[in-house]
Amino acid sequence: MFDDKFVWGVASSAYQVEGTDPDDGRGKTVWDTFTEQGRIFQNQNAYTSCDNMHHYKDDYALMKNLGIKAYRFSLNWARILPEGTGRVNEKAVSMYRDMILTMKENGITPYITLFHWEFPQALQEKGGWLNEEVVDWFGEYAKVVAENFSDICEDFITINEPQCVVGLGHLSGVHAPGLKLSVPETFQIAHNLLKAHGQAVINLRKYAKQKIRIGFAPTGGVAYPYTDSAEDIEAARKVYFGFYNPMDNWTWNISWFSDPVFLGHYPKEGLEKFKEYLPEITEADMQLIHQPLDFMGQNIYNGYYVRQGADGEPEFVDREPGFPKTACNWPVTPKAFYYGIKFLTERYQLPLYITENGMSCHDNVSFDGRVHDNDRITFLDSYIGAMQRAYDEGVDIRGYFQWTFLDNFEWSEGYKERFGMIYVDFMTQRRIVKDSAFWYQDVIKTNGGNLSMNQTTKEILFLDPVCTHNIWGGTRLREDFHYPVEGDDLGECWGISAHPNGDGTLRDCGFSGMKLSELWKKHPEVFGNVDSDRFPLLIKIIDAKDDLSIQVHPDDDYAKVHENGSLGKTECWYILDCKENATIVIGHNAGTKEELSRMIHEGKWSEFIREIPIKKGDFLQIDPGTVHAIKGGTLILETQQNSDITYRVYDYGRLSNGKPRELHIDKSIDVITVPAKSVADSVKSVADLPVNTLNELYVCKYFHIYKIEVSGKMTFEQNAPFMNMTVTEGNGIVNGQPVKKGDHFILPNGFGNVELQGRMQIIASTI
Ligand code: BGC
Repeated sequence: MFDDKFVWGVASSAYQVEGTDPDDGRGKTVWDTFTEQGRIFQNQNAYTSCDNMHHYKDDYALMKNLGIKAYRFSLNWARILPEGTGRVNEKAVSMYRDMILTMKENGITPYITLFHWEFPQALQEKGGWLNEEVVDWFGEYAKVVAENFSDICEDFITINEPQCVVGLGHLSGVHAPGLKLSVPETFQIAHNLLKAHGQAVINLRKYAKQKIRIGFAPTGGVAYPYTDSAEDIEAARKVYFGFYNPMDNWTWNISWFSDPVFLGHYPKEGLEKFKEYLPEITEADMQLIHQPLDFMGQNIYNGYYVRQGADGEPEFVDREPGFPKTACNWPVTPKAFYYGIKFLTERYQLPLYITENGMSCHDNVSFDGRVHDNDRITFLDSYIGAMQRAYDEGVDIRGYFQWTFLDNFEWSEGYKERFGMIYVDFMTQRRIVKDSAFWYQDVIKTNGGNLSMNQTTKEILFLDPVCTHNIWGGTRLREDFHYPVEGDDLGECWGISAHPNGDGTLRDCGFSGMKLSELWKKHPEVFGNVDSDRFPLLIKIIDAKDDLSIQVHPDDDYAKVHENGSLGKTECWYILDCKENATIVIGHNAGTKEELSRMIHEGKWSEFIREIPIKKGDFLQIDPGTVHAIKGGTLILETQQNSDITYRVYDYGRLSNGKPRELHIDKSIDVITVPAKSVADSVKSVADLPVNTLNELYVCKYFHIYKIEVSGKMTFEQNAPFMNMTVTEGNGIVNGQPVKKGDHFILPNGFGNVELQGRMQIIASTI
């Protein structure tokens, strides 16, 4: 979680939200010209947009009500200096001063961006960014900003996304001023822009009325590693700060813009690659660009995979089929956010603010009059969670500005893209607070405490089981349950197990690939922080084609002393299937220990063994000390303590690999309970229990066992530390997850409401 000093904000820009007024005295920007030329979506324009210039008092009140602490917004250069230089429009100054003061009255800290693309048309007519005088023009504007606002604002950002200004505005021409200049001209523009940044820093500090902090807000997709291997991380870092784009796309570059600003030089690799296109670059230029800054900003929206290729060089990797994306088709890549934050802070060593991050959604007003933008919540939750991962690792990240507060004018896309946490009806100027804004309010209030990374998982934890080969095993685990295993001697499926002899692997959840034993150790909260050094239960399906040996298990005390600290084994069986007239061995006929010992030593097996009839749907509890054996043709679901200690008393004289299997006569005699529990107490039929009910079959010190027959729909509350489930018949849906016979899964701690439907039988257990 983040500390109390962390700056939680929202961001916007002047042109995207303000709107205009016939008497506002502003000058035109290049975007006015561009939209008048009809060069954007549906010939839209920003003359009204969110009309924030007439609604800011209400909009800031809304921010305050939602607990927003900081607002990054921009000033419109052409509103303040209608001709770009010279005459100051006092109406603009007083509007912006009132805006800042109103923010502050509402407890919102202002962060001013000087230039978020509101380039004065008057200066465009003098050559715009291509004219080197732009350095002085922007410097003059910075002086005016410092003189008029630095008494009431302490945080300033010079330029937003130089990559877009140069690339979209002057190379591809999709943004104003919509030029398609030559590559050398665009390098000249980039160089002028960086110098203008430097000049602005100088003038902001020179004319500031108090000590101020200044940063820069570049952008760029993040090259992030396909896997977390050291090689892939290195490959991604190399691409992120490298020069892999074709020349007609060269401006999507991090180091070309950030190295001069933060490190004082252009990157060597770039100077080499771009040498034929570069303008004259002097020592004095570099000094001007390299002004001391207080923080770095970065706008991060997404990234692309890179890994180390076979030749050791970075290689680009396609996104997975069906990857998540936003309404404007940008990929959703939270991991890129983590790596971008890490890479930038490592290289530039300045405190970082995420100056923009967010997504456009297909937001719509629902029948209840609200806007349920769940995709945005999922997006922000994963991105802010990724940011917390970096923060927890000690990265110096100071703040986060969500893009954006109000749905607004999305540049060449007009009003097509809704990026806001507040819905705006552009026909009426009505605002509706989307669900994401309330969610973000909680993020702010709890410093990230409500992020899902800080909650225990609510996901169903599916397990891939481990199957074993046994001399008495058969083929039903493969044929009836479809476990992908070979062999005609498949005896046991360890369905939910963290035992070293059969540790299950998690699948289809946030812990996919992890062993259950590892999850138990690393995330005890998933299991309700139960006080136990190991996952306490073990669930198996047993297919006995032939008879199992006659066995007995020790209890905890005996196993601890004689079996190297192991747990004892209390277990129970649910008979999934058996032959007609089937029997099972349970208990024995000895009346005293002496008699027991004699019967065993003298091999009086028919006298000793107690065999009783069973049928499908029977339930048997096998306490330690109970002699037992499954007979051939029986299929059972076994729930037991997490232990693999069995004492074999008798193996019908069979040979395995030509030799008899080991017997454990002395230990067996030690632990067998004499006399045995009565037959009536040993078996009960639970075949016909009420449907759609959590039927308790048995409770002991180690487990609670339940049987559920789903027919249609049912719900119940999962309030135990965790609940194991195995589907033993049929199929259905559990909380949105399709499940079928043979599936094993765990419902974690705090799971809450379990919604089951379909036609299926489930055997469940808790501790
Ligand atoms: C810009 C914003 C824009 C946002 C979403 C950023 O590149 O700074 O002005 O609205 O992305 O496209």
